[in-house]
Amino acid sequence: MANSESPHTSSSDEIQKAVEKLRAGHLVAFPTETVYGLGADATNEEAIKRVYEVKGRPKNHPLILHISSINRIDVWAKEIPDYAMDLARTFWPGPLTLILKKQKIAKNYITGSQESVGIRVPNNPIALELLTRFEACGGLGIAAPSANRFGQVSPTSASDVYEELGQFLGLEDSILDGGKAQVGIESTIIDCTYDYPQVLRPGAVTRSDMDKVIGTNKIDFRIDNSTKASGMFASHYAPKARVLINKEPVMGQGLIALYQFPTPPGVVRVGSPEDVFDYARELYSALRRADSLKLKEIVVFPPDGEGLAEAITERILKAAGGREIG
Ligand code: TXA
Ligand code: MG
Repeated sequence: MANSESPHTSSSDEIQKAVEKLRAGHLVAFPTETVYGLGADATNEEAIKRVYEVKGRPKNHPLILHISSINRIDVWAKEIPDYAMDLARTFWPGPLTLILKKQKIAKNYITGSQESVGIRVPNNPIALELLTRFEACGGLGIAAPSANRFGQVSPTSASDVYEELGQFLGLEDSILDGGKAQVGIESTIIDCTYDYPQVLRPGAVTRSDMDKVIGTNKIDFRIDNSTKASGMFASHYAPKARVLINKEPVMGQGLIALYQFPTPPGVVRVGSPEDVFDYARELYSALRRADSLKLKEIVVFPPDGEGLAEAITERILKAAGGREIG
């Protein structure tokens, strides 16, 4: 397995080697603009089984299928509503996953035995080169959940992936390095299997972004809690440290808050993002920093506002394990 500590972006040669590894049934973790994914050939049942093992994820939780372009959407999905095509045309490549009726090729082992499949075209040059080359040699798509152990914080750098999964990956698996993820939180997920779109997970593609494409009030934004998606457990994206929200931080605790917020004496500042975009980019690495410093508790002040701020706040609430805001 490649050691991801090396401070370089993966070369075309390394991407080509990764394609061969995928074709041979091995796993390849790769950068996307949201978070790093743990990829496997979506048509290889054995490889997908290993994704679940390495992640420690329950079998009924579906994986997102990554493709290189909207032109390949029909390979995996059928009866796609017009509004879904409009969203895909506007936001792909980008941080938006569409849940669509599946074609037969989308087997139960990637869909968690559902009749739908989640599809995304990531906006990252390494991911796109990997996908394009994989498809050029006959691959149909790369299934990839976030490259973390089940319930833990998603990785936003290659070294995070190494730290998170290194001990579970085999010698033939590899980790591609694309530096720090540009968005930093997982994609927006929209269920497109009904007459109207429904948000399953908020993300960087926001309600107002989508309103501009499909019209105002066309999206059901009551986030569905039916546990179709694994990020919907009350506790998820969770560090080992206990996360406390909007509490007065005291000595020995970690603190994540916008940079203007002062750090009281004895409090360990692990994150001071400059704005909401920076907050999304920094949140997960700040939570990891708290764990690597072995802090027991970390106080987090979520950003105010709509859109991306709401998506960040949702992750922070889950990191706190569904505890009430203090
Ligand atoms: O930004 C992202 O989406 C990242 C990068 C790697 O693409 N991936 C990611 O995957 O966050 P994962 O597996 O950690 O989260 C995907 C979510 C899960 O909660 C899963 O249950 C849900 O998508 N999902 C996938 N297919 C689904 C389906 N057919 N119906 C409902 N939910 C689905
Ligand atoms: Mg995940």
